[in-house]
Amino acid sequence: MNKIVIKGGKPLRGEVYIEGAKNAVLPIVTSALLATEGVSKFYNVPNLSDVKIISELLTSLGVKINYNKEEKTLEVDATNPLKKEADFEFVSKMRASFLVAAPILVREKFAKVAMPGGCAIGSRPIEQHLKGFSLLGANIIKDAGYVELKAEKGLTGTTIFFDFPSVGATQNVIMASCLSKGKTILVNVAQEPEIGDMISFLKKMGAKISGENTSCLVIEGVEKLHGAEHTIMPDRVEAATYMIAAAATKGNVLVKNARYEDNVALVSKMREMGVQIEVNKNEIRVKNDRDYLLPIDVKTLPHPGFLTDMQSIIMVLTLLAKGVSTITETVFENRFMHVEELRRMNAKIRIEGRSALIEGGEKLEGTSVKATDLRAGAALVIAGLIANGQTVVTNIKHIDRGYVNIEEKLRK
Ligand code: EPZ
Repeated sequence: MNKIVIKGGKPLRGEVYIEGAKNAVLPIVTSALLATEGVSKFYNVPNLSDVKIISELLTSLGVKINYNKEEKTLEVDATNPLKKEADFEFVSKMRASFLVAAPILVREKFAKVAMPGGCAIGSRPIEQHLKGFSLLGANIIKDAGYVELKAEKGLTGTTIFFDFPSVGATQNVIMASCLSKGKTILVNVAQEPEIGDMISFLKKMGAKISGENTSCLVIEGVEKLHGAEHTIMPDRVEAATYMIAAAATKGNVLVKNARYEDNVALVSKMREMGVQIEVNKNEIRVKNDRDYLLPIDVKTLPHPGFLTDMQSIIMVLTLLAKGVSTITETVFENRFMHVEELRRMNAKIRIEGRSALIEGGEKLEGTSVKATDLRAGAALVIAGLIANGQTVVTNIKHIDRGYVNIEEKLRK
């Protein structure tokens, strides 16, 4: 499907089930490349186009993949030697493909990986990834859109300070450190829950890592790692999307397979706005029967701060607040493209530098809008749910990257 047509105005009621996390399954499936013995099997794998892309990339590297969409399982057998080059065709489609750099480098002593392009939300450089590889002893050549990493004698552990707690750089350098000689200390690492999920899988493979969920990790290099089984954590951004949709439509929804501890920042901001939220084990109920919500101030930050992926989504909720809310985006330099589209729906939003000022209280008018990136697309779908008349969201291949059957779940 290339567009979603929404008739707004109906409160959402009932239950919604949250799938496995896109931003956990991608680094975890890539970590399985570190195993030279045995097969890894994953459960609760979401049926997403990004999972299809990473499966195709791994297959191109000589890895045996069995992706069963119905059973939501995925098996990885990486016991054959890995092809040393990851083609531009994959890395240009999905930035997370750059995570194969570490496994290829530590196993084959040489890796040639296309540099991930920028994307709509920002330039997205990789200097933190390369800083980690170089401190571990790799020689790096950047040439014509590719990065060549060489380490004939393998990698040697050391202390690495990240200038910025980059999620991807943390993931790449953790993988490289697990099979480096000796001890590596990583300082100022990203602490997103998806990294915690990746570390728990690596430890099942035999990796020696301590300090998870803190800003400092200590990794003892080991000789080899073996395959293991792992259930992917729930997708906290998908959960956030349905929680906000429930509140925005003045509905009453039970979000199942959602972990409160992954969404503490979001729950507290929604409660500040006056939304009723009940937290139970592995499920969250969201209710809103207020005439209007209260305005809030949000600043996106690395975890445990407010997640940048939820910025566009909570912006739609602030349109229902009486007063001016501010949302400041500190993680990506160009992640306000949904604002232009929301303005076309009559939203009153002003941008000043890295902050958006949202004057809530105006009714949105349905019209045709374009998804510019994954989470902007999700925000526009929610806007359509609360707008007068009909909204058509186009360019929704972005949405298919991160949401399984969003239209079916919302209809239900
Ligand atoms: C991951 O991207 C997520 N993607 C993103 O989710 C998420 O928005 C982001 O983390 C932040 O939480 C996946 O997990 C697949 P970063 P990643 O490296 O790893 C700058 C979604 O919607 N930076 O933490 O690319 C970079 O430019 C996606 O699912 C450097 O400057 O995030 C950006 O401004 C979108 N140098 C900021 O850090 C570097 O070497 C965050 O990037 C690396 C990053």
